[in-house]
Amino acid sequence: MSLNLQSDVSLKAFNSFGVDVRARLFAEAHDDEDAREALSLAAQRNVPLLVIGGGSNLLLTRDVEALVLRMASRGIRILSEDGEQVLVEAEAGEPWHPFVQWSLAQGLNGLENLSLIPGTVGAAPMQNIGAYGVEIKDLFAGLTALDRQTGELRDFTTEECAFAYRDSLFKREVGRWLILRVRFRLSRLASLRLDYGPVRQRLVEMGIEVPTATDVSQAICAIRSEKLPNPVELGNAGSFFKNPVVPFGLAERIRAEHADLVSYPAGDGLSKLAAGWLIERAGWKGFREGDAGVHRLQALVLVNYGQATGTQLLQLAQRIQADIRARFGVELEIEPNVL
Ligand code: EPU
Repeated sequence: MSLNLQSDVSLKAFNSFGVDVRARLFAEAHDDEDAREALSLAAQRNVPLLVIGGGSNLLLTRDVEALVLRMASRGIRILSEDGEQVLVEAEAGEPWHPFVQWSLAQGLNGLENLSLIPGTVGAAPMQNIGAYGVEIKDLFAGLTALDRQTGELRDFTTEECAFAYRDSLFKREVGRWLILRVRFRLSRLASLRLDYGPVRQRLVEMGIEVPTATDVSQAICAIRSEKLPNPVELGNAGSFFKNPVVPFGLAERIRAEHADLVSYPAGDGLSKLAAGWLIERAGWKGFREGDAGVHRLQALVLVNYGQATGTQLLQLAQRIQADIRARFGVELEIEPNVL
């Protein structure tokens, strides 16, 4: 029994919004045994178990009457190599970006577009993290999770995870699965994705004609650093809303009034709209009330200037949702988990 169980712990350092709420109980899991022990302790004490990774996709609106378990398990390994294909496994508590850097340092390609995303390996499949034209489902090769109902381990294939845009089985079956480790199929050969947004242009500006995966990673780090606030300096949870998928007809009605609307075809007569564009056009970019605000460079990101509470941030989000609904007839869905 190695779990260090603490009572009444501030979660300020464990959520990237920097919201200061307290957890009734708190522990860190360094291995599978710790996770199992936390499961049974929560049951014994009759409190829910809340599992967190980097806390970078989380909005806490009040004290947490639960056992908060931070996944802190570490370890990265190459499981097998087959020609240029390499199967890699990482423990849930590995921080995401250092894992991406590790893979690039091994000469393994695939994760470069997902550079500088906050959070942990174990949290990445929850919302199928994605950026610059790549989602983790594209590199995913399986994961092992603990079934919180039966205490048994289960391996999931890509199909079983039911990945979709910022969505997965694990997000839908909240509280059922505790992700312990994740596997990725990476490649010794580079097959770079440069088409999304400003990636190619940035490489040109960097003077790189024939980019490597490491070059792409550096370009993406530069792009992200310019637009997205560093949570260490300014509390935030990345994009606060999903880009809404709407019927093509609605997108075209908005475009008839706003020729510069940013949208992408989403198949089946649907269009995906840039929520950042909608929010900026509605005048919210740079808005601040107290310590809750909308980032001045990226309207999709809500920020905590210091002492904002989760409720204040949520209320700001709800005002934005109501305004976007009234102006454009579009429903914005909140992206992080709100507790
Ligand atoms: N835009 C605006 N105003 C803004 C922000 C964006 O007009 O304030 C426009 C941009 O000009 C651009 C379009 O919206 O034409 C898209 O912007 P951007 O490329 O910055 O991407 P995004 O749609 O705002 C999504 C992801 C990000 C991811 C980037 C790059 C979601 C919810 N967000 O943002 O993911 O890094 O694309 O792939 O899908 C996250 O999920 O936390 C996240 C940061």
